[in-house]
Amino acid sequence: MERMLTGITPSGVAHIGNYIGAIKPALAEQQDGREHFYFIADYHSLVKCWDASLRQQYSYDVAATWLALGLDADKTLFYRQSDVPEILELNWLLTSVAAKGLLNRAHAYKDKVAKNVHEGQDADNAITMGLYCYPVLMAADILAFNAKYVPVGKDQIQHIEIARDIAARFNHIYQQEVFVQPEAVVNEKTQTILGLDGRKMSKSYQNTIPVFTSSKQLRKNVMKIVTNSQLPEEPKDPEACTVFSIYSALATDEQVKELRARYEQGIGWGEAKQVLYEHLESLLQGPREKYRALMADRAGLDRLLEQGALRARDIAGPILQQAKRAAGVI
Ligand code: ADP
Ligand code: TRP
Repeated sequence: MERMLTGITPSGVAHIGNYIGAIKPALAEQQDGREHFYFIADYHSLVKCWDASLRQQYSYDVAATWLALGLDADKTLFYRQSDVPEILELNWLLTSVAAKGLLNRAHAYKDKVAKNVHEGQDADNAITMGLYCYPVLMAADILAFNAKYVPVGKDQIQHIEIARDIAARFNHIYQQEVFVQPEAVVNEKTQTILGLDGRKMSKSYQNTIPVFTSSKQLRKNVMKIVTNSQLPEEPKDPEACTVFSIYSALATDEQVKELRARYEQGIGWGEAKQVLYEHLESLLQGPREKYRALMADRAGLDRLLEQGALRARDIAGPILQQAKRAAGVI
C-alpha cells in the first residue's frame, strides 16, 4: 500500500491558519485508501527550542489538537518521533552518506549564515549541528517507513529533494534498492490565511486566532481583526477582507454565497465578524471539549502515542535491518 507521511513540529499552539492550511487538508486525506503516518517531530523541535517543559507541553498540545480535530488513531499511525528509535539509528546511516555540499545549500542553514555575515558576525555564529543536519533527520523520518508521498508546505520542498538525493545515494553506494524515493505533495489550493493585523497569520507575528480558546476569547479575537473604515451601509469588497477569507475557507459554498451577497449590499464589520465568530464557534465547540478532555489526561495521550509507536516500529524495524545489512553493519 502507498504510504503518506506528515511530520508536525511541536512549536506552539495551533491557530486558525495552521488549521486551514495544514491540519484540515491533512486530515481530509486519511480516508483515501493509503497508509497514513502522522508524527510529532519532537526531535526536530530540539533545534529551535531549548525549553524542556515547553517542548513537552507543545507535544501534548499537538497530539490533543489533531485528535480533537478528527485524526483517527486507529486508521492511521500516530506517534511521537522520539518513541521510534529506529529513526535515529537510520539517521546515522544516512548522515554517513549525505554529501556535505548538499546540506551547505539547505535554505534554513544558508539563511542563517547570510544573516550572520550581514550583521558582521562569525558565519557560524549560533548555528548548531542540529540545524545543519536537520534535513538528514527529516530524510530518516521518511525513509524509515519508505513513505512515497510527503505533504508539505512550499518551504519544505527542498528538504524532500534532499531526502530523495540521500535515498538514491545510499541505494547506489550499497548497490541495493533499500529506499523508495519520496515525493513532496504540495497543495497549491490552500490559501495563506491572514491574521488579526492583516499580515500572514503566524505565531511569529503574534497575530493569531488560536483554534482552542474559550468561546469568549474566540469572539474577542475575531472582533480584533483589522478592517477598513467603511461605513456599515457601504457595499464592501469580500475579496479584500480577512473576515471573509477565513469564513470562505470554512463555510459551505451556499453559506459563502450568502455572505458575499450581504457584503455587496453593505454589512457592518461588527455584523460580519459576528457571522464568522458564530461559524467558528459551531465548528470548534465539539472539538474544544474533546481537546480539553485529552489535555487533562496526559497518561491517556502517552498510551495512545506509544501504541502508535509500536505499530510504527514494526514497519521501521525491517527497513532499518535491510539498510544495516546492505551497509554491512551486522
Ligand atoms: P507559524 O507561521 O505560525 O509558525 P508553522 O510554520 O508552524 O506556523 O506552520 C505549520 C503549518 O501550518 C505549515 O504547514 C504551514 O504551511 C501552515 N500555516 C501556517 N500559517 C499559515 C497561514 N497563515 N495560512 C495557511 N497555512 C498556514
Ligand atoms: N520540518 C517539517 C516542518 O517544519 C516537519 C517535519 C519533520 C516533517 N520531519 C518531517 C515533515 C518529515 C514531513 C516529513 O514543517
